[in-house]
Amino acid sequence: MRNSERTKVKLLLHSGVVGTEVAAMGWVRTKRGNKNVAFVALNDGSTIHNIQVVFDMTRFTEEQLKGVTTGACIAVKGLLVDSPGSGQRVEIQANYLEVLGEADATTYPLQKKGHSMEFLREIAHLRPRTNTFGAVLRIRHAMAYAIHKYFNDKGFFYIHSPIITGSDAEGAGAMFRVTTLDLDNLPRTEDGKIDWNEDFFGKEAKLTVSGQLEAELGALALSEVYTFGPTFRAENSNTPRHLAEFWMIEPEMAFYDIQDNMDLAEDFLKYLIRYALEHCADDLEFLNKMYDNELIDRLKFVIENPFERLPYTKAIEILEAANQKWEFPVFWGADLQSEHERYLVEKHFKKPVILTDYPKEIKAFYMKQNDDGKTVRAMDVLFPKIGEIIGGSQREEVYDKLLNRIHELHIPEKDVWWYLETRKFGSAPHSGFGLGFERLLLFVTGMTNIRDVIPFPRTPKNCEF
Ligand code: 4AD
Ligand code: MG
Repeated sequence: MRNSERTKVKLLLHSGVVGTEVAAMGWVRTKRGNKNVAFVALNDGSTIHNIQVVFDMTRFTEEQLKGVTTGACIAVKGLLVDSPGSGQRVEIQANYLEVLGEADATTYPLQKKGHSMEFLREIAHLRPRTNTFGAVLRIRHAMAYAIHKYFNDKGFFYIHSPIITGSDAEGAGAMFRVTTLDLDNLPRTEDGKIDWNEDFFGKEAKLTVSGQLEAELGALALSEVYTFGPTFRAENSNTPRHLAEFWMIEPEMAFYDIQDNMDLAEDFLKYLIRYALEHCADDLEFLNKMYDNELIDRLKFVIENPFERLPYTKAIEILEAANQKWEFPVFWGADLQSEHERYLVEKHFKKPVILTDYPKEIKAFYMKQNDDGKTVRAMDVLFPKIGEIIGGSQREEVYDKLLNRIHELHIPEKDVWWYLETRKFGSAPHSGFGLGFERLLLFVTGMTNIRDVIPFPRTPKNCEF
C-alpha cells in the first residue's frame, strides 16, 4: 500500500465520509477481541485520538492477525462506518491488512500504560509513541509555528544568529568549547599556553549562550527582528528547569523603551497561550485529565489577567516582609532564586509578575543604566510553576556609558568592538528579551520537568540519543 492512498487518522475521525473506502497506516496501541472479531486502536501521531479498526474474523485468519500486536506498524484498508461504540464517530471495517513492522510482544518496552517519566526518558527514542509525548510534541510544533506567525504578522524579520561564536560577551553562563585541535597533543605558545591560532577559526570558539548581540545588530538596521534557535549553557544546573541545550526566542526592537518591551512580552505570551488553547484543545484536554487538572484553568487565567509590574526593590521589600524560611537569603542586591520568584507569583500576587530595575551587579553589561547609578532597566517575567520565563532589558545605547561598563567588568574590547560600533554610528534606543522555549512549554503542557518537553534533552552527564 502506498502513502498516497492513506488518509491521516485526524482527518478520518474529523471529516471522513461514512460509506467510503479508506486507508490508514499507523502503530497499534491495543488489540482486543475474540475469535469472531478483533478491535485494534490505531494511532499515526496526527492526533491524540486513535481510530478503531474492526477485523471480522470471517475475512481474516488468526495467522494474518498474529503480527498485529501493541507497537506494530500496520497498513489497513476498509469501509468507513458509523461507530456503534462510544468515544468515536467512525471506525474502519477492515478488508485489507499489511503488517509493515512487527513489534515483539516480550521485548517492546511500551506494552502497558503508566510508565514513569523517568523510565520514558531512558527510551526517548520510543517515547514519542506514547500519548503524553505525542501531545507534547504536537504542542511544541504548534508553539514554534505560532511564534513565527506572531512576529511575521507584526512585521518582524527572522534573523539567524550564529551558533558558533568567538566571543563570550553575554556573560550568561559557562560555554561549551568548539575545537578541532588534537586534545592529546595541543599546540602551545612560547609561554606554554594553548595556541588558539592553530585552531580551526584561528581563535577560541564556543557554542553561543544567546543570539541577542547579533539580533541587536539586526534591529539597528531592520527595526524589529527576532531570533529563534538553539542556545547552550555549560552550567552544572541539575534542576527541572535547566537544560544544557535549549531553544530561545529573542526579539530585538529599535525605538522600544522598557515599557514597550514589557507590553510586547505580555502580549506575546498571551498570544501563544491563546493559540495553544485554540489549536491544541485535544492534547491540552488529555494533559489536563492525566497530569494536572488545573492546567487549562491556569492557561485561561493568564490570558485574562494583566501581569503585575513592579521594580526589584519593591519585590525585595515584599520578600523581606514575608513570613517565610528561605533556602537562599533575601537582601537588596541578591539574585532572586526560584523560591523567591514563585513566592511572588504564586503566593503574593497570584498572577504573572514582571520585575524591573534590577541591581546592575547581577545583570549583564549591555543593560541600560538608570540615573540612580545602582540599577539597570532589566525586566524578568515570572510565571506560576516556572519562575523566570523571560529575561530582557532596554539596552544601553550611549557609547560612553556602555564602554565604561565594559571596562568595569573587564570584558576585552577586542571581543565586542563590532557591538560598540553600533553605538558610535547611528545608535538608537532599543530593547529586547529572551523567552526560553522549553520554559514556555513547561507552562503550556503542565509538565513538571524540562527534560519532558524537548525530544532529546541534554543535561549534565546525559547526551544519549
Ligand atoms: O535570562 P537569560 O539568560 O537572558 C538572555 O540570554 C538574554 N540574552 C535574553 C535577551 O535579552 N535577548 O535567558 C533568557 C531565558 C530565561 O528567562 C529562561 O526562560 C531561558 O532563557 N533559560 C533557560 N531555559 C532552559 N535551560 C536553561 N539553562 C536556561 N537558561 C535560560
Ligand atoms: Mg535571566
